Amino acid sequence: MEFLSEQYWNNRYLTNNFGWDIGQISTPFKFYFESLTNKNLRILIPGAGNSYEAEWLMNAGFKNTFVCDLAKEPLSNLKSRCLIFPDNQLLHSNFFDLNIEPFDLIIEQTFFCALNPMLRQNYFNKMQSLLKLNGQLVGLLFNTVFDSEKNGPPYGGNLNEYLNYIKNTTLKVIKMEPCYNSIEPRANRELFFILQN
Ligand SMILES: C[S@@+](CC[C@H](N)C(=O)[O-])C[C@H]1O[C@@H](n2cnc3c(N)ncnc32)[C@H](O)[C@@H]1O
Repeated sequence: MEFLSEQYWNNRYLTNNFGWDIGQISTPFKFYFESLTNKNLRILIPGAGNSYEAEWLMNAGFKNTFVCDLAKEPLSNLKSRCLIFPDNQLLHSNFFDLNIEPFDLIIEQTFFCALNPMLRQNYFNKMQSLLKLNGQLVGLLFNTVFDSEKNGPPYGGNLNEYLNYIKNTTLKVIKMEPCYNSIEPRANRELFFILQN
């Protein structure tokens, strides 16, 4: 099965089985977002989950922030925490089915690793199609192997693997390096990257 179902992901939220959820904006994104000056950026967070990052952005005045998730539950959770989040910017959709005006900035955090590895090239192709010219995909990718991979996500990966997918797209690598300010449980296991269309 290529896709874990909407029901699978929704149940993970409903049964509190969401070990990836850190309950607050992660440090690398807080630092990165604080460096952004253009509040009009059109931003997408796919596989957003409860998305404390989207909440932070909206509260900081980045009004063109969109989130996308296959599961309804985390979108409702985000709305209940952040009432000013516009309903039409909560996209209840499969990321691969999105058909929407392209973005200046797309954020990756623990979405890629949740997808079946068979979808990895499709992921970068889809990112390319969702970015404006000069738009950027920014985020974190794991640089590790997970012992539990046989049983399902998260799926690990490494720099060379990622570069092999990226070279088949128009995306250019601006940065892809060990992340120096990961949250403690992910320390030394993440790459911070910026790709530009
Ligand atoms: C491991 S969670 C990460 C959530 C969030 N990024 C975070 O850091 O807390 C993966 C998320 O991707 C969503 N997801 C999985 N497959 C998806 C797809 N094809 N399209 C959109 N969302 C998807 C799941 O519902 C889940 O919320």
